[in-house]
Amino acid sequence: MRILLLNGPNLNLLGSREPQIYGRDTLAEILSRVEKRAAELGAEIVAHQDNSEGAMIDFIQKHQSEAEGLIINAGGYTHTSIALRDAIAGSGLRAVEVHLSNVYARESFRHTSMLAGVCAGMIAGLGWRGYIYALEWLVAAAKEDGKE
Ligand code: DQA
Repeated sequence: MRILLLNGPNLNLLGSREPQIYGRDTLAEILSRVEKRAAELGAEIVAHQDNSEGAMIDFIQKHQSEAEGLIINAGGYTHTSIALRDAIAGSGLRAVEVHLSNVYARESFRHTSMLAGVCAGMIAGLGWRGYIYALEWLVAAAKEDGKE
């Protein structure tokens, strides 16, 4: 079972970027925790981070046929990108939107997600563990569908 993990713009700077909001863990540290949990669940993570919207769409299109789910933190593109929304919808993948911070407790422009309507659900405000919870749910849902 393969799960895609896609992080968007500025998330490459986790650890040093506004740590009071996003925490002190680097993306590499978070990724290794997600990969460890995936291994325990019998799943494999295909991870990518990109600052560019088109490259994020390319990643989804490239891997959509070989995966059972998508975990996506699209960063600022969450609030603007109809193109990413279309890519998720077109992929047919079961997707979970993750945000480290509670976007609803922040500026009003973060209260709108272009992606939420094409994702099964959203986890926001639970820090890096949100990726783990998204993974656990996606694996459980795929297993219920009879996927190995
Ligand atoms: C974020 C929230 C977004 O509003 C912001 O643009 C980010 C990170 C989060 O993980 O909390 O880059 O997606």
